[in-house]
Amino acid sequence: MMWRNTRTAYGLVSRLLHWTVALLFIAQIPLGFLTQATAQNPALQFDLYQWHKSTGFLILALAILRILWSLTSRKPKEPSGTKPTMQCAAHMAHAALLTMTLAIPLTGWAIASTSPLQIPSFFFDLVVIPNLPMAVSDSAEAIWSQLHAWLAYGAAALIVMHAGAAVFHAIRPEAGSLHGMLPQRSRR
Ligand code: HEM
Ligand code: HEM
Repeated sequence: MMWRNTRTAYGLVSRLLHWTVALLFIAQIPLGFLTQATAQNPALQFDLYQWHKSTGFLILALAILRILWSLTSRKPKEPSGTKPTMQCAAHMAHAALLTMTLAIPLTGWAIASTSPLQIPSFFFDLVVIPNLPMAVSDSAEAIWSQLHAWLAYGAAALIVMHAGAAVFHAIRPEAGSLHGMLPQRSRR
């Protein structure tokens, strides 16, 4: 398999980045939810927060690499006959998902930075990630936390649509081609 994308398929780098970010991102949603559901057990809640923040920073770093990679790569071409509206919907969903992989960790970082608790973010117990230079207040924390939650649950809905479309095309190749990110049944 090629490192780079070709005219018809995603290359190794795009595939590795897609699946690592996808798995980590999907795991973050229940993990973020659990940080809210464990308030009666502060020791466990602290650990869950540190895991959530560490994984989120890892996603942020990978997302930056991935966006740079994606901007400098060709996109595999659709075969002629693909409906332009469907092609456009897929491209918009991909752009929205990429944006979410930046915006959600950044709003999370803003919650940690504005929180009056000022709990340090220990990145996988290796280094402390500094807070963003933002004014600390309960109201700022509340706003970023609302935004973070809305974006995260919105992204969850988008992922369900995106994965549904992918599986649909994997089973029904006559409705349009995938480019190797998922295996696809051959066209009849
Ligand atoms: C792709 C990355 C991330 C995803 C998908 C994600 C998702 C979530 C979700 C679903 C919640 C629960 C929201 C709720 O029900 O109220 C949450 C909470 C939270 N997340 Fe994230 N998160 C990500 C990254 C981060 C990062 C990088 C940080 C901090 C450095 C962070 C800090 C927090 C905090 C502090 C909360 C508790 C929010 C609150 O006070 O309401 N998150 N996250
Ligand atoms: C089980 C979940 C998922 C499945 C089955 C899946 C499947 C796919 C497939 C088959 C493609 C290639 C479409 C084509 O051939 O034209 C693709 C592309 C893409 N997916 Fe997913 N995906 C999943 C989760 C995610 C998640 C969680 C994200 C982002 C957070 C994401 C973001 C993207 C993006 C941005 C592309 C465009 C190509 C790229 O830049 O890598 N996917 N996905």
